[in-house]
Amino acid sequence: MLVKTAEFVTSNTDVRKLPEPTLPEYAFIGRSNVGKSSLINAIVNKKDLAKTSQKPGKTQLINHFIINKNWYLVDLPGYGYAQTSKKNRAEWGLFIRKYLRQRENLQCIFVLIDSRHEPQKIDLEFCQWLGENGLPFVLIFTKADKQSKTKSEQHMAQFRKALLTWFEEVPPFFLTSAEKKHGMEEILVMIDEININFVSPVAE
Ligand code: GTP
Ligand code: MG
Repeated sequence: MLVKTAEFVTSNTDVRKLPEPTLPEYAFIGRSNVGKSSLINAIVNKKDLAKTSQKPGKTQLINHFIINKNWYLVDLPGYGYAQTSKKNRAEWGLFIRKYLRQRENLQCIFVLIDSRHEPQKIDLEFCQWLGENGLPFVLIFTKADKQSKTKSEQHMAQFRKALLTWFEEVPPFFLTSAEKKHGMEEILVMIDEININFVSPVAE
């Protein structure tokens, strides 16, 4: 798929104020600093559409971007940001989980995992929560340029094994580098295939 246009739509903390759910939507979630905003920019081939930062905790709202005037990419705040207060973390839980559970046009959740690390409890538990709620997701391993392919693949295999203790089948895995723009086409192909079959949950 060719990305011709990519535009910012809204930032929200209130799920009632999101854009009408008439177009297919894909959300990016994962630990703070894992590279969610960078991956969105790499997919749409724009430098600063989603705001990135070296410091964790940059993205704080539900940010909608519209691509080719035809589907939404959503940048979400990260989880597991230690500097944030307990109250903030609890709020993250509530409003992001509410968004993920209630958003009718959400087609697939992209769970981003840092390919440099062995499976982390917080990521595994989040995948388990998605599974328990019957929410469709795929795993996207980020920052592949930071170490050897062998190391990344080793971490992916470990993650797959850990998921198999809860899931009979594991969802698709992708290895990416936003820095080198590797792995973008595979993600766009998957989105394209889902978009073709999308039926709006609300009458237009
Ligand atoms: P929050 O919004 O704080 O939750 O973070 P985020 O997940 O959106 O991460 P962000 O995209 O802001 O990236 C965090 C840092 O990682 C930035 O310094 C990016 O430049 C860097 N980064 C992201 N993706 C890659 C990658 O593929 N390779 C390398 N080398 N660095 C990356
Ligand atoms: Mg971000």
